[in-house]
Amino acid sequence: MSNRIDNLLHEDRRFAPSDEFAANAVANAELYAEASDDRLGFWARQARELVTWEKPFTQTLDWSNPPFAKWFDDGTLNVAYNCLDRHVDAGNGDRVALHFEGEPGDSRSLTYAELTAEVKRAANVLTGLGIRAGDRVAIYLPMIPEAVIAMLAVARLGAVHSVVFGGFSADSLRSRIDDAAAKLVITADGGWRKGKVSPLKPAVDAALEARGDLGPQDTVTNVLVVKRGENTVDWNPERDRWWHDELAAASPDHTAEAFPAENPLFILYTSGTTGKPKGILHTSGGYLTQAAFTHKNVFDLHADSDVYWCTADIGWITGHTYVTYGPLANGATQVIYEGTPDSPHPGRWWEIIEKYKVSIFYTAPTAIRSFMKLGRKIPKQFDLSSLRLLGSVGEPINPEAWMWYRKVIGGKTAPIVDTWWQTETGAIMISALPGITETKPGSAQVPLPGIAIDVVDDDGNPVGEGNGGLLVVTEPWPSMLRGIWGDPERFQETYWEKFGDKYFAGDGARLDDDGDVWLLGRVDDVMNVSGHRLSTAEIESALVSHPFTAEAAVVGASDETTGQAVVAFVIIKESQLEESKAVEDIQAVLRTHVGEQIGPIARPRQIFVVNELPKTRSGKIMRRLLRDVAEGREIGDTTTLADTTVMQIITEKVG
Ligand code: WTA
Repeated sequence: MSNRIDNLLHEDRRFAPSDEFAANAVANAELYAEASDDRLGFWARQARELVTWEKPFTQTLDWSNPPFAKWFDDGTLNVAYNCLDRHVDAGNGDRVALHFEGEPGDSRSLTYAELTAEVKRAANVLTGLGIRAGDRVAIYLPMIPEAVIAMLAVARLGAVHSVVFGGFSADSLRSRIDDAAAKLVITADGGWRKGKVSPLKPAVDAALEARGDLGPQDTVTNVLVVKRGENTVDWNPERDRWWHDELAAASPDHTAEAFPAENPLFILYTSGTTGKPKGILHTSGGYLTQAAFTHKNVFDLHADSDVYWCTADIGWITGHTYVTYGPLANGATQVIYEGTPDSPHPGRWWEIIEKYKVSIFYTAPTAIRSFMKLGRKIPKQFDLSSLRLLGSVGEPINPEAWMWYRKVIGGKTAPIVDTWWQTETGAIMISALPGITETKPGSAQVPLPGIAIDVVDDDGNPVGEGNGGLLVVTEPWPSMLRGIWGDPERFQETYWEKFGDKYFAGDGARLDDDGDVWLLGRVDDVMNVSGHRLSTAEIESALVSHPFTAEAAVVGASDETTGQAVVAFVIIKESQLEESKAVEDIQAVLRTHVGEQIGPIARPRQIFVVNELPKTRSGKIMRRLLRDVAEGREIGDTTTLADTTVMQIITEKVG
């Protein structure tokens, strides 16, 4: 990390927007002045201009019971109406909302009128299955139009969705269904990944069958199944329904009812520092306001001419805010793609950009670095001249990857916005505004208008320019999380206890001499692998749940492509070792086990079998030292270890 900080101090390249870009930019510099004069007035104006309210709000923010915020509290709205019907009513029904590209090459476009009609039918189906405002619906789907339709149908009823990433295992799905006490699961037979059908329904079956021993039982009354993979699935006629049969039989008419601004919209689980994922809760009016504002201004959206593509899966927050809610609230035309970037060939993404003339492209640094490794020859085979703006999200983008993105993908002209935010913040918080900010490779730069950010020391004092510390948000913001589902204490403890009145993001950051923010990665036991958050504790508990394992410690080691990689150190039970198992077999079995317990993304890159773990006298594992080993560095200070020879033995073993 220290090398990186040195490099950051010496970045002096700047890229000003072209005159043409600046002249046509959606954002303008006055936004900053307006927001700093009257922050709440600024957000109230955005909420009125970008969102259609059934009953207008009179109070912008209620912060009388911090950290529980209420935004636009006495207003009412329907989120799905804002993403659909109002565009049709305004005469834009024929505009394409979604260009869907399937991995095998099938494609389908839906206009706003068509998407609205589908959501209305789906809302009627859900009502028929007993879903009412406030009920939770789990969504476990591939990146197909039905994923967006399902989310909006749930939102239309004032119910709450909990999208679970299709790459998560049956166990992960089960714990999320139980925690939220979901009534319905929407899934598919399977979806296309890497050239073949990857089944989804079997995981839902397994999750629901195995529920006897955990949590509130039998909350799920139905499973609605989209036909996509055409793979054979088991069928429980009492419980399971085909999506296409139900939709075909449903009425196409549905009037959206308005709900209070603070009505819950969704729960999204994310990894924290303990083993149990947190259900991050977002509500309606404030979330939609900031989603729409940031999508429009950060991506310079010209809704009548742009084609936008965000490569995130709806299983992550980026897919919620920048595939479903932001773009659709703004009436954008967007691409969604089902598969992996390299199926069936490594130029698949660039081919899609050429095919749909994508003009705004939003992806993650890990993807950019993998393409960089493959070389510029692949993107050069495609016409990428439609691209006029590029975005990055999920982890720090190193200046080298930033420059490659700009040159090879952006044709040396497209501005890059490096956007910092989190599942908890709901929407972008720190980013350049294209057309206004001179961009700087590697820095996320400045808080958006209306957002108050600082970098502070451990006692909460601002560190000032030229110094590093912890990133905090100092004022409530419209799309902030409203809590952790079912656990208000954990909400307070995790984010507010450290500084009292400031939101603690869990990220290290540095302010450079221009006051620009550089993100330096997590300061807690959360890893960031390919832009996905994983908890060391969660993977450790998966490892020790296997009969081989006596103890386990997991660290995130830096990795050239994925940012960080999972590296595990395990102690195997004597009895298991005695059965003279080969170390390679143990490693393979444990990797598979973690994949089954959590999902393939959590599988360790390396597993080292060791005899001891480095612990302090109070028994705390010193992960810092293990990270030194995993990254091949000289071992740091070991004086606080209970047994100082442990590290020597581990280093020899790892070799
Ligand atoms: C990291 C993803 C540096 C950060 C939207 C944060 C970033 C975590 C950036 C949230 C960025 C996200 N630069 N780091 N532009 N964007 N992060 O909840 O560590 O999946 O805390 O939300 O990703 O991950 P999450």
